[in-house]
Amino acid sequence: MKKVNRVAVIGTGAVGTSYCYAMINQGVAEELVLIDINEPKAEGEAMDLNHGLPFAPTPTRVWKGSYEDCGAADLVVITAGSPQKPGETRLDLVAKNAKIFKGMVKSVMDSGFSGIFLVASNPVDILTYVTWKESGLPKEHVIGSGTVLDSARLRNSLSAHFSIDPRNVHAAIIGEHGDTELPVWSHTTIGYDRIENYLESGRIDQKTLDETFVNTRDAAYHIIERKGATFYGIGMSLTRITRAILNNENSVLTVSAFLEGQYGNENVYVGVPAVVNRQGIREVVEIELNEKEKEQFNHSVKVLKETMAPVL
Ligand SMILES: NC(=O)c1ccc[n+]([C@@H]2O[C@H](COP(=O)([O-])OP(=O)(O)OC[C@H]3O[C@@H](n4cnc5c(N)ncnc54)[C@H](O)[C@@H]3O)[C@@H](O)[C@H]2O)c1
Repeated sequence: MKKVNRVAVIGTGAVGTSYCYAMINQGVAEELVLIDINEPKAEGEAMDLNHGLPFAPTPTRVWKGSYEDCGAADLVVITAGSPQKPGETRLDLVAKNAKIFKGMVKSVMDSGFSGIFLVASNPVDILTYVTWKESGLPKEHVIGSGTVLDSARLRNSLSAHFSIDPRNVHAAIIGEHGDTELPVWSHTTIGYDRIENYLESGRIDQKTLDETFVNTRDAAYHIIERKGATFYGIGMSLTRITRAILNNENSVLTVSAFLEGQYGNENVYVGVPAVVNRQGIREVVEIELNEKEKEQFNHSVKVLKETMAPVL
């Protein structure tokens, strides 16, 4: 019998269930365990998701489980916690969610879990750090969704502007998943051509580029104002990261990874390009930033460190 891939999802709210829905539709794992403090909710979601299985590309076993089920899991994805309220920044959530996390991570580790953690709850960089600290696992085995979604949003906006498939738009947002994140324009290419060539030839101007970034950075606020929460984009982003892990893809994604001197920073989880595979984070990819980008990145790390200091 081939070993099956088991993914346990803690938190079956909007983000957790959007992730499960994308996972089932893309046939990524053989087993999905749903865990939530609200047990009837987890149970109802498992029942509902099961009813779509006849139309899924591959079979997936889906059930409402408990922390004991994490012992045999390859991946535990944490989407539990309080969501961002209108007007509330992700960093406002820190104290509330750090406390919840300490308890959840302990329960997972008590099950004998030795796989990989993928964290999505906000503030994601800080909660990834809390997960790493509390779990005692190697840093490579703890990953945050980081700026994968933000980079996807930027790629999507540039794709719409130039009418080029977003898969041919290479653009990264790095730093905190939040207000201090930054676009890496110096490494942005569209259909193999550098963005600076687009600027020189007048196919886009700096003002439009700046507005595109601000709209990307603030996208969560705009969506929350309109529909109360964001969940499909992050659900698909988490599924993308999960594929990279379970399929040992060595994909480069802007996840939240632990820095030990890369980009001149250490002892922090923050969004940077990293090679993701079955071992978790194989390595952080250190691209050369220009002076402005370096300054913005250092500022982002400084804000993260200041915010997390009281909760560690
Ligand atoms: N990383 C990203 O890009 C990104 C994007 C969107 C949302 N988020 C974050 O994801 C998180 C979840 O958002 P949501 O919209 O799904 O919220 P939600 O309120 O819909 O769901 C949260 C779920 O967590 C459960 N929960 C709370 N405490 C728990 C505990 N101790 N143990 C187990 N389950 C617990 C709740 O019962 C609920 O079902 C938030 O922190 C939000 O900010 C992250």
